[in-house]
Amino acid sequence: MSRAVAIEVSHLGKVYDKVRAVDDVSFQVYAGEIFGLLGPNGAGKSTILRILITLLHPTSGSARIFGLDSVKDADRVRKTIGYVPQERAIDRFLTGREHLELLADLHHLSAEEASTRIPQLLKLVELEAQADRPAKTYSGGMKRKLDIACGLLPDPKVLFLDEPTLGLDVPSRLRIWDHVRAMRDRGITVVMTTNYLDEADQLCDRIAIIDGGRIKTLGSPTELKVGVGGDLVSLTVREHDRVDTLASAVNILPAVRAVKTRPNGLDIRVDSPEKALPAILEAANRLTCQLEFIDYHRPRLDDVFIAQTGRSIKDDQPKDDDQ
Ligand SMILES: Nc1ncnc2c1ncn2[C@@H]1O[C@H](COP(=O)(O)OP(=O)(O)O)[C@@H](O)[C@H]1O
Ligand SMILES: [Mg+2]
Repeated sequence: MSRAVAIEVSHLGKVYDKVRAVDDVSFQVYAGEIFGLLGPNGAGKSTILRILITLLHPTSGSARIFGLDSVKDADRVRKTIGYVPQERAIDRFLTGREHLELLADLHHLSAEEASTRIPQLLKLVELEAQADRPAKTYSGGMKRKLDIACGLLPDPKVLFLDEPTLGLDVPSRLRIWDHVRAMRDRGITVVMTTNYLDEADQLCDRIAIIDGGRIKTLGSPTELKVGVGGDLVSLTVREHDRVDTLASAVNILPAVRAVKTRPNGLDIRVDSPEKALPAILEAANRLTCQLEFIDYHRPRLDDVFIAQTGRSIKDDQPKDDDQ
């Protein structure tokens, strides 16, 4: 099955002074999908996005948007895309409607186009009722919706969203997700960054996991999770000096694929939990090794991240996470 390619990123690199922020990154985004760049703070996500939207020049490699080069054809690329930046620019006395009117001028929309598109967009993001209030009185979720309306004003074929729900409460995040899905359903290709695992999992059709400026793995959330191989059983052992003994006993069980030790327990990948769990518990019992805690789960995106980088993405999650 071949799909139309909207964006082609090829061996992209970016060095700031001495920091290699993006290192030999290649990927494709298909037309009409929601593509996510998932990674911790400092991974290089915003840098990649800023190259794609022509705000930054790459140090090496190239990015093409619908065949247009982000450097050589920058003017034409800009006419094809919309961008919602990570830091919101909305905190002035202007009303929501005035923000859009100002932007319509910047994009050289005709008065007629502006007067049809602006009410449509306010309706789309459900800000009609608040359109004539100063935007600085808006809640975080409302500001974000206005940001998105601003990104959609030029009627882009591709919309870039940098951390679209950073710092929002859960209901606002779910509403933004709905808006992003609605854009995809209208045929817009969406490229977004996030460091929220659940957002990447539930919203994106495909994701690239980025760490230290490099792509660690790429695929649909389901493909990536299946790729971890096996379900996960996690044990916490009461007496920590028994961890190694238990690990050796569990390692030779037939239903067990792999065992990793932690200072206070074991992470075990298993083929079939029905067979593995009783056998693991039996082994612990036989060794009179007391278990403090047992967790069993299907692989999650965090397990994919751990498998690729050796640490959890949550280790450097920002503190303004409202969950
Ligand atoms: N303008 C800049 N000058 C120097 N270093 C930068 C600049 N912007 C980003 N960096 C560095 O590049 C790396 C990637 O940053 P960024 O692309 O913002 O990551 P992310 O969006 O994933 O958090 C980080 O180490 C960051 O400190
Ligand atoms: Mg960023």
